[in-house]
Amino acid sequence: MIAQDLILDAKVNKKALNWAELGFQYIKTDYRFAATHENGEWGKGQLLADEVISIHEGAPSLHYAQQCFEGMKAQTAEDGRILLFRPELNCERMRRTAPRLLMPEIPEELFMQAIEETVRANYAWIPPFGSGASLYIRPMLIGVGENLGLNPAQQYEFRVFVSPVGPYYKEAGLAVISLAVSEIDRAAPNGTGSFKAGANYAGGLLATRKAKELGANEALYLDAAEHRYIDEAGSANIVIATKSGKFITPSSNAILPSITRRSIMDLASKHLDMVTEERPIDLRAEFDDFDEMGACGTAAVLSPVGKIWFDDEWHKIFQDGQTVGPIMQELYDLLVGIQKGELADEFGWLHEVDI
Ligand SMILES: Cc1ncc(COP(=O)(O)O)c(C=O)c1O
Repeated sequence: MIAQDLILDAKVNKKALNWAELGFQYIKTDYRFAATHENGEWGKGQLLADEVISIHEGAPSLHYAQQCFEGMKAQTAEDGRILLFRPELNCERMRRTAPRLLMPEIPEELFMQAIEETVRANYAWIPPFGSGASLYIRPMLIGVGENLGLNPAQQYEFRVFVSPVGPYYKEAGLAVISLAVSEIDRAAPNGTGSFKAGANYAGGLLATRKAKELGANEALYLDAAEHRYIDEAGSANIVIATKSGKFITPSSNAILPSITRRSIMDLASKHLDMVTEERPIDLRAEFDDFDEMGACGTAAVLSPVGKIWFDDEWHKIFQDGQTVGPIMQELYDLLVGIQKGELADEFGWLHEVDI
């Protein structure tokens, strides 16, 4: 337990970081939360100062990737409130992922308590309003006990750490990014693609490297069965405004159901009055009907996609020099406006952390 006066002191003394220059890198903050699951029960958990985890060399998370994680952000509103965006959906997603990997579900109260306590304890690290940065929150669940055969762990650790971050892609704000279609698959149709399992990401590291070698920001995955339909980018879902006036997004069992995407689809339908569709999107057959494309996620927010590499050449959605289209711009403004508490929270998406 950390003393209340330490938190109050942090409130006055924000860390002297150059918030506007932050990228998406780990910065060690003062506290993290950890709870252990043993003998079928979750312990109470506590805040710790030590960022290093000491686990058994036989731990199934190390050998067999029995682990999963989440990602979300806290923002400072203009009036100083600390806001989380739909954290209950991250909790729900982790509670869905855990049993897929034979791990124990985190009780909702423990998840929310861990998030709130970690954010509160690291108040000094939460980027101020207007800095363009936010506090990234990483909940993780790992199998830690001694083991050798391919069996689920006997003990688990649930940990939450935070790090102040700037934009995920090098270019700040709404800069246009590019994607390169990967020949390597991320997830099989009935595999673990729709779960936030670390194993999905290890398999994608090479695809990301190859995409970067082609000069793209990220890999774009097509469906593994036919390499025809758009799945998602390495760390973001895809949304598309078509020339025929629809707002579409891929339906696929192999993609992570993005909380940002779900919110953007609602905004497109309710604020922009667009017809929205979640359906298979055939990249080659439909490309000429793409008017605007975006990659969306907690880290990516909503990044317009200017061009895609496939079939050995770049295919442009935007002409060189174009920055962002009007639809993605409006959706970005609405989403970020709500997340920062600048626009009315008409859907009840915000969760305030009491400081
Ligand atoms: C593979 C993948 N797809 C999509 C997303 C976006 O999901 P969310 O909007 O819930 O952050 C993420 C995470 O940010 C991701 O890692």
